[in-house]
Amino acid sequence: MTAQRTALVTGAGRGIGKAVAAELSRQGLRVVPTTRRPDEAGSPILDVTDAGSVREAADRIGPVDILICNAGVLLDPGSDPLSVPLDLVERTLEVNLLGGWRVAQVFLPGMIDRGWGRVVFVSSGTGSFDQGLFTGAPGYSVSKAALNGLTMMLASHTKGTGVLVNAVNPGMTRTRMMPQAGRPVEEAARDVVHAATLPDDGPSGVFLRHRLPAPW
Ligand SMILES: NC(=O)c1ccc[n+]([C@@H]2O[C@H](COP(=O)([O-])OP(=O)(O)OC[C@H]3O[C@@H](n4cnc5c(N)ncnc54)[C@H](OP(=O)(O)O)[C@@H]3O)[C@@H](O)[C@H]2O)c1
Repeated sequence: MTAQRTALVTGAGRGIGKAVAAELSRQGLRVVPTTRRPDEAGSPILDVTDAGSVREAADRIGPVDILICNAGVLLDPGSDPLSVPLDLVERTLEVNLLGGWRVAQVFLPGMIDRGWGRVVFVSSGTGSFDQGLFTGAPGYSVSKAALNGLTMMLASHTKGTGVLVNAVNPGMTRTRMMPQAGRPVEEAARDVVHAATLPDDGPSGVFLRHRLPAPW
């Protein structure tokens, strides 16, 4: 890992994304924290639901070596699968699945061309088949299960290219999304940064929990 690597973080205005950007900076990387709205820190604008916004950000930022797809929404807590309004599910998938996919489509080809890259999808235990998908936020859980599928697929697609693609389950972390959780964002961020700075012989296509591969 060299100090010249550039890392882009989506949804970096608050929560886990903001802490990930801070930790990556602390480790000496060039960090581009992006937000969907202008913020006080002047971060580049990147709305993961808006293809034009992703393209413009890419043009402005240039080559990205490390991509952290962190942006996410939790829109359906307290719902159940048989009555959740499907428009909420659709909006959730638009950010949590297609948002990461859209950003990956723009930034991964450059990584493959350059023969080096790290991609981290910030996923969730709610989307784990092994644990049983969490039914109390059905759209959210399915979006993360699908994101895990995307992770495995992109890892297969980039096998042997020098690009490693993994998902991280940060666990219940205290943010605006999960204010009652106990885990400080800095701890979750260190797990994400670990996956973002894996050595060249590190794993690809795994679901990391506490920095170790866990069952999907
Ligand atoms: N907290 C937990 O316990 C927990 C557990 C498992 C997984 N996660 C995952 O961790 C990630 C970060 O969540 P968090 O807990 O830090 O929640 P958070 O504080 O609500 O942060 C979510 C971030 O995503 C951004 N975002 C939402 N829609 C976006 C869009 N269309 N384009 C770009 N950015 C967008 C938000 O930006 P705005 O400020 O503009 O809304 C915000 O910065 C999410 O993917 C979440 O699913 C969290």
